[in-house]
Amino acid sequence: MKKFSKVLRFTPKNYPDEVEAKVQQYKREGYKLPGRHALRTPEQLAGIRESAKINTALLDYLSENIREGMTTADIDHMVYAFTTDHDAIPAPFLYEGFPKSVCTSLNDVVCHGIPSPRVRLKEGDILNVDVSTIYKGYFSDASRMYIIGQASEEARRLVQVARECRDIGVQAARPWARLGDVGAAIQEHAEKNGYSVVRDLCGHGVGLQFHEEPDVEHYGRRGTGMLIVPGMTFTIEPMINAGAYDVFIDEDDGWTVFTEDGALSAQWESMILITEDGNEVLTQ
Ligand code: MF3
Ligand code: CO
Repeated sequence: MKKFSKVLRFTPKNYPDEVEAKVQQYKREGYKLPGRHALRTPEQLAGIRESAKINTALLDYLSENIREGMTTADIDHMVYAFTTDHDAIPAPFLYEGFPKSVCTSLNDVVCHGIPSPRVRLKEGDILNVDVSTIYKGYFSDASRMYIIGQASEEARRLVQVARECRDIGVQAARPWARLGDVGAAIQEHAEKNGYSVVRDLCGHGVGLQFHEEPDVEHYGRRGTGMLIVPGMTFTIEPMINAGAYDVFIDEDDGWTVFTEDGALSAQWESMILITEDGNEVLTQ
C-alpha cells in the first residue's frame, strides 16, 4: 500500500475555497488525508460518470437476462459483448492475470469467482456478478446479487441484509466523516443480524485506475481512519458471511475466494462520489 499519508499537497484550483480551507485545517490537526490524486477534477469526473453509466447499464442488462440453466461463462460472454458494443473494455480481463471479463461468485464464493462453462445456475443459488468498465481510460465498478428461482428464506435474508449493509455504508460516507465511520456502520448492521463482515477484502478508490487509494474497510471504529473529502470516488462493497468471516483462496486458480466454513456469502457494490454535502451514487 502506498503511503498516501505522506502525499498531502492539494490542487486548490479545483476546489471551492471553503473546501480547501477545511482541508488545510484538518491537515494542521494531524488527520490522515487522501492524497491530491484521490480528489477528482471536473474533467476526470465527466469521464468517470460516462464509464459509470455504461457499467450500470450493463448490470441492468444482466438483471434482465440472467436465469436458471445458464452457465457463468454465458454471463461472461454477455459482459464482454455488451461492454465492447459500448466501445468500452471489461476491466477485469487480464487484470493481474484474471482470465475473464467479470467475476461471478456463487453461494459460498465470497468474490473473484471465475466464470466457467461448468458452473450452471440452478434454483436456489445466490450469485454475485461484479462488473467493472474502462471507458476512455476511466474506471467504474459495481456488483449486484442475483437470486435464481426460489431461494431459501435464509439465503434471501442474507442477500437483503448485505444490500442494507452497502446502503448504510453509503449513507455514512459523508464529507468530513472518517472511513472508520463507514466501516463501523456496516459492521454493526451485519453483526446485529447475526452475520460477519469479511476482513481480508475491502472497497477502494476507483476512477483513474481500477484500484486506488484509499482502502475502504467494511468494519472498524467510528472516529478513526482517513478523513473523507469532497471529490473522492470510491467503492463500498461489503462481503457479508452467514457464518464466520474467515476466507481462503482457491489454490488451483489463485483467485476464487471461499468462506472457510462453507457458509453462504453475499455482496453488493456501489461506487460513490463524495460531494460537499453528502455523496452521489455513481454505480449500483
Ligand atoms: N471488481 C472487483 C472489485 O470490486 C475486483 C475484481 S479484480 C479481478 O474490486 F481481477 F478479479 F477482476
Ligand atoms: Co470494487
